[in-house]
Amino acid sequence: MKGFGEAKWIRRGQDCQGEATVFQKVFSVNEENSSVLLQVTSHGIYEVYLNGVRIGVDYFTPGWTSYAKRLQYQDYDLTELVTLGENTLEIHVARGWCCSRRYAMGNNNPITTNPELLAALKIVNSDGNITEIGTGSDWLAGEGPVRFAEIYDGETYDARVSAANLTPAVVVERGFENLIPQEGEPIRVIEELRPQKVFRTPKGETVIDFGQNLTGFVSFTVTAKAGDCVEFSHAETMDQEGNFYTENYRSAKAKLNYICKEGTQSYAPHFVFYGFRYIRADQWPGKLETLEDAAGIRALVVHSQMKRIGHFECSNPLVNRLYENALWGQRGNYLDVPTDCPQRDERLGWTGDAQAFVRTASYNYDVDRFFHKWLHDMAADQRADGGIPHVVPDILPWKNSSTAWGDAALICPWQMYLTYGDLEILRDQFECMRGYVEYMRSQGDNEFLWNTGEHYGDWVALDAEPGSYKGATDLYLIATAFYAYSTSILIKAGKVLGRDMTEYEALLAGIKSAFLQEFWKDGKPDPDTQTAWIIGIYFDLLPDKKAAVAHLTELIKKGDGALITGFVGTPYLLHVLSENGEEELAYSLLLREEYPSWLYSVKAGATTIWEHWDGIKPDGSMWSPNMNSLNHYAYGAVADWMYGVMAGIRTDDEQPGFRRILFQPITDRRIDFVKASIESRYGLVASEWKREDGKITYRFTVPEDCSALIRLDDAELEVGAGVHVFVRADA
Ligand code: BGC
Repeated sequence: MKGFGEAKWIRRGQDCQGEATVFQKVFSVNEENSSVLLQVTSHGIYEVYLNGVRIGVDYFTPGWTSYAKRLQYQDYDLTELVTLGENTLEIHVARGWCCSRRYAMGNNNPITTNPELLAALKIVNSDGNITEIGTGSDWLAGEGPVRFAEIYDGETYDARVSAANLTPAVVVERGFENLIPQEGEPIRVIEELRPQKVFRTPKGETVIDFGQNLTGFVSFTVTAKAGDCVEFSHAETMDQEGNFYTENYRSAKAKLNYICKEGTQSYAPHFVFYGFRYIRADQWPGKLETLEDAAGIRALVVHSQMKRIGHFECSNPLVNRLYENALWGQRGNYLDVPTDCPQRDERLGWTGDAQAFVRTASYNYDVDRFFHKWLHDMAADQRADGGIPHVVPDILPWKNSSTAWGDAALICPWQMYLTYGDLEILRDQFECMRGYVEYMRSQGDNEFLWNTGEHYGDWVALDAEPGSYKGATDLYLIATAFYAYSTSILIKAGKVLGRDMTEYEALLAGIKSAFLQEFWKDGKPDPDTQTAWIIGIYFDLLPDKKAAVAHLTELIKKGDGALITGFVGTPYLLHVLSENGEEELAYSLLLREEYPSWLYSVKAGATTIWEHWDGIKPDGSMWSPNMNSLNHYAYGAVADWMYGVMAGIRTDDEQPGFRRILFQPITDRRIDFVKASIESRYGLVASEWKREDGKITYRFTVPEDCSALIRLDDAELEVGAGVHVFVRADA
């Protein structure tokens, strides 16, 4: 229940210049056994302090949602924390997403650019007597130590300052209709990394390397004089000359400034996060030349708290690193919403990136709750005509939908159903899913084609015209192919929910034949690209699969045995090959080390997945700074092929959540062992195989209440729960 009672939204009288607003209320607890409950939300992001002590461990509350329609609030039990007599409650609110310059810029009608607070304290005495203290003009507001905090630009903190000269808060008239309890996973500090190296660049900059591209912030302990400054800049890489490189952050300043008080003190930012591997010490009181000097400095990894459920390992260390890079891509970009990147002035819930990576994500971590929240926002932001915005929460001005981006509306909930057997998400999202299919249907004048509008296409594919980000594949071919694919998902979801889907079955048949007539006129697409064939095959749109795969194989071979695909084709590429008898080529693409390939970036030292195959070129120069994230997970989608094909762990769609498992590992002579597992809702699902003494030994684990179909080269076996071992000659 929303317990805000008589509380009112409040703000500070003056306009915010970037500083966090401190809201304060002194209250009394007169009885030892009173229970004291607090409910809070804000426009901006907040932290709660009771008598000077921070309450809770969550960051960036109330989280990021489509605020005008859905704003989360959080509950705190202060019973054990209050003191008898007078207590001081302070809530600091910074701009966060809601009042950020980007949010305000994109959103034609921002709720506010000034931090606002809504809070209610409830003190319940043992006799049942309740005192309610809601925010109102009797609360005080003013400035505190956070002098500036903005998600893209960073934080400035003055440790010498504490909240003073507070004046009565100003009431803002707003309703409570959009308030909802916390739905998503909390955002927390999940791990801590130590500096790996301290070095000087040719320019003379002092740089600390944490050895891993990550999302979060730096904490430090320092002994200083009052007024001394700490100033850090953040970067993902050094440039070609070995100097600190921040150009790819675009307008995001990503700075940390701290003004010291006297003595030894510790600090970590409160209201910002950065995507970085390196920091440059622009100012630091004292010597910072060795790892010992940097002993008090840490990188804190921050993301939505998700349970790790998937593990993968094989005999090739570069593939293992690639897998780790995909994991780190998820850690860095699953911060309350699935983002494109964590470092530059973007960090938005791009739907296309989310759908490309969702299967991998759902195996690595339990992301069911995470997606419930985000998909609810998607439904809330869905337009009246069924269109899905490019980013969710929707803060961009464009009102169209793009193919392969909007399809996240179908692909993501369906994946939650497959990986976790989650029916509720299908029920919740069904109207949103259907609405988007209807949107596609209503575009242009042929209901079976989507051949109008603007689309991102095979984003950042290597066959793009110079100067363009859009790969060569025909945009409307992609649009119609995804239209068919999403319609096929809608049909499956509808059937699971017991609905009559005849109308959509007819629609799908119509789309399929229109697709062939329009885009495969001479038996092939124009232009004849890898991605066109990949999606044609994967989405089951081409009648002669065998011939199609042969043609795709030809194209790859002619292209020096390399992929050329972007966001649209890449996630399906290896699946299409290995499902259709070209497993050796699939492995060759995975294991390829020269540019362009997945392992090219690994060999170049990547610790996350790059936005571009050539983010850093073989000569060390960079892709254009205006679009070059080194932590963009889309191509990390390849990890689902590691689980699903190398280890051969898949769920049967008919009995999802791994209730019935299909084990079908595909081995390759270049790999000596594979070992993978997914902790399903039923228990541990595991598969491993090992090549030794002319034999391959397979071992499969099936949890209680589950069954599996095991497919090895020569046999199909039905098994029940337990561990099943098979030995085969190594052909
Ligand atoms: C983002 C992408 C996103 C794209 C849309 C970019 O700026 O970083 O990952 O999907 O825009 O084309």
